[in-house]
Amino acid sequence: MSDDSTSRRDFLSAVGAVSAAAIVPRSAFAVRASEARTSTGEPAPRGLAPSADDFAFEPGLVYLQTGSLGPTPRPVMERATTAWKELQRNPAGYGYGAHEQAMEGVRAKAAAFIGCATDELVLTTCTTAGMNWIAQGLTWAAGDRVLTTDQEHPGGRVCWDYVARRHGVALDVVAIPPGENDAQAIVDRFAKAITPRTRVLSFSHLLSSTGLRMPVAELSALARRRGCLAVVDGAQATGGIAVDVKALGCHAYATSGHKWLMAPPGTGLLYLSEELGKTIDPIPLESGRAAYTASSGVCSIPSVLGLGAAVDYISAIGIAKVEAHNLALGRRLFEALRGVPKVRVVSAAPGPLASPLLTFELPAAVKSGEFHATLLQKHHIEVKVVPGNWLNGNRISTHLFNTEHDVDALVEALRSELA
Ligand SMILES: Cc1ncc(COP(=O)(O)O)c(C=O)c1O
Repeated sequence: MSDDSTSRRDFLSAVGAVSAAAIVPRSAFAVRASEARTSTGEPAPRGLAPSADDFAFEPGLVYLQTGSLGPTPRPVMERATTAWKELQRNPAGYGYGAHEQAMEGVRAKAAAFIGCATDELVLTTCTTAGMNWIAQGLTWAAGDRVLTTDQEHPGGRVCWDYVARRHGVALDVVAIPPGENDAQAIVDRFAKAITPRTRVLSFSHLLSSTGLRMPVAELSALARRRGCLAVVDGAQATGGIAVDVKALGCHAYATSGHKWLMAPPGTGLLYLSEELGKTIDPIPLESGRAAYTASSGVCSIPSVLGLGAAVDYISAIGIAKVEAHNLALGRRLFEALRGVPKVRVVSAAPGPLASPLLTFELPAAVKSGEFHATLLQKHHIEVKVVPGNWLNGNRISTHLFNTEHDVDALVEALRSELA
């Protein structure tokens, strides 16, 4: 069960809890500071977006939920729809011809974007698929162990539950209490929990729960020293912050296209370091790592070509600039939340452990699912409901299309609801 399906369910049940009288008509939000105009009255681009019409959010919506699903900017959608239309002209002609070649170009581009060789990159449909391929592609013996954390998203955890059930693998789980934010303590806990039978250290790059930037390089080095594989769930990182898999030093890195990269839904990347050889050997890679092979079959060609356009879109702005923008908005929010009663920020303070995700805990009397519904219905602000097994709170994503006005609108809404 994904935390996103949990939040959707929380939302549906919570909507009923918001009284009809409290629901402000959408038209009241039609003009918002986030939809600012230029001096000549034209709509201004959002945040770092090059063009004013790059994003098609419903009028007035403040979207702070990229961590669950990112929007698709216009140029990305256009590339995908153009490809789809081309396919109608001669499906096999394009699909096994120009489009197949173009998909190899996307692989090369995506590989360069995360700092690896094209041969080390596989196109997938999502982070979960990448993690599944890793877990299923390893050879297991009963009694092998996997070491992970209690903050993994189901997309990075279910694969290990599967090998535990199917192959008698034991799971060891390191605790990372939300709000602790101590990188050295995490590394120490991992080091202590490794046993002679530990085969894999599996952890997120940015925690889904709090956005904590994990000490990936240190954990990868630890894994190598102890003869284990370092497997990273990078769902929340790629596109929102700079990712360099070689600098991180992990063996494998799975990520999504449809979150921070803002690629079409159903796209993902999997890095498998060349040094692995056939250590991770799942069926879909039996015939090689190209976008189309005998063992992969046909993928969503328009979406993959849209993924290439998404990498181009972010690269044209510059990932360093995107990361700085996202973190600056996070810092603004972090500072402003100091003055909001009843919320407890559990994410790391601005600095090396912070990320474009910020989570706050609500008082027990304020249910996070209902609060999400209130923010959406009364204030037209979309945030995430953090799964209850982690904490009673909401998570905020700040990406390149967000602005200071978006952050300020959220803070104002929190103040008015929690006063
Ligand atoms: C850390 C993490 N891993 C995996 C996933 C699942 O991503 P996908 O649906 O692309 O497989 C998510 C989604 O929110 C996530 O936050």
